[in-house]
Amino acid sequence: MPLGLELSDFTDRYGKFKDGLNNRSAHRINLKDFLRLKLDRSLPKQLRKIINNREQLRKEIEMEYDGMLIIRVYDKGLRTDLPYTDELLAKVSNWVIPIGVTLREFIRHDFEKLQMLVVAGMTRYGKTVFLKNAITTLIHNEPDNVKFTLIDLKGGLAFNRFANCKQVNTVAKNADEALLALEALHVEMEERQALFLSKGWEDIGEAGWKERHFIVVDEGAEIMGFESKEARERCMYLLGEVARIGAGMGFRLIFATQYPTADVFPRQVKANTSAALCFKLKNSTQSMVVLDRKGAESLPVKLPGRAIYQTDCDLIVQTPYITNDFIDTKITPHITIRARSEEHGASSRGNEEKPRRSYTTVFEET
Ligand SMILES: Nc1ncnc2c1ncn2[C@@H]1O[C@H](COP(=O)(O)OP(=O)(O)OP(=O)(O)O)[C@@H](O)[C@H]1O
Ligand SMILES: [Mg+2]
Repeated sequence: MPLGLELSDFTDRYGKFKDGLNNRSAHRINLKDFLRLKLDRSLPKQLRKIINNREQLRKEIEMEYDGMLIIRVYDKGLRTDLPYTDELLAKVSNWVIPIGVTLREFIRHDFEKLQMLVVAGMTRYGKTVFLKNAITTLIHNEPDNVKFTLIDLKGGLAFNRFANCKQVNTVAKNADEALLALEALHVEMEERQALFLSKGWEDIGEAGWKERHFIVVDEGAEIMGFESKEARERCMYLLGEVARIGAGMGFRLIFATQYPTADVFPRQVKANTSAALCFKLKNSTQSMVVLDRKGAESLPVKLPGRAIYQTDCDLIVQTPYITNDFIDTKITPHITIRARSEEHGASSRGNEEKPRRSYTTVFEET
């Protein structure tokens, strides 16, 4: 690093470096164009066009400082799509899910290392698709050990396809159902805590339990819109408790929101979460809330799936795009249709096969 300068002196001029590298076009012949040639009178003109073809350069730069200033220049920018395929699924196992690709590598998130994940981003930039990617991956890789409480405050549409999977305890679709599901989780968590204390187990690893229970909240900001203040505060408190004490007992939280303002995140969720996946946001204030730094507002427009993945460092990634057809092929073997009478009275602890508890049903009937 030249004396007296720091990394930000370079990163602040990222745009200038990039434009400087890309300010000309390059002569490029694409062999595929020859296959499209039409054998008519315009052949010489077509050939001239192929031979004289020029393309705008699209080099990309990455800057890093590790005692030395490192500037990496790539011929091409980050890919704009990454289909979720079997090949991609094979790259992850256990409690690890694919986050996406950077310019250099494939990035994974391990829920055993970072148990809570915040997901944020403007509408239509890929939050729900990412949550479906996480749920499908975990069902496929840990079918006997994963449990889900899915809270979809946009009416349950996106998570409905998972509702009959044997791994899914609940799909809560509104304030009442969310509260009911969270209260049940809280009871379970307290029981588990008492059991761990009595057995002298420090955490789920020491207990030797394989089960992990994921609470996935899509559109967490809706909680702030609950009519009853009491329900609002209770939901926030319960989610905070999952984040505060749940991790050691096998609970995992993925909390997604479109409107990341400071009051949308239960305080304990923000305090206990060290991983975030942040798609494009409206402004730097929102970016500060999620990432504690500006930047998510500058992600490209109209490019769903592009995000900043923050753990101990920040990476720009393209997240995988999972289609509903692909999801269905993976979850169909796990779907169990049960009679309504079987749906009640289940305990939701332990790894044993058990009837699925449906809070929706319980709520409708009480
Ligand atoms: N990783 C991705 N790669 C490419 N396209 C994507 C990706 N994720 C999402 N998309 C596209 O963006 C659309 C919107 O995605 P999604 O429903 O996940 O947005 P969202 O952030 O949940 O929006 P909202 O806040 O309105 O619920 C998808 O239907 C899909 O066409
Ligand atoms: Mg969504």
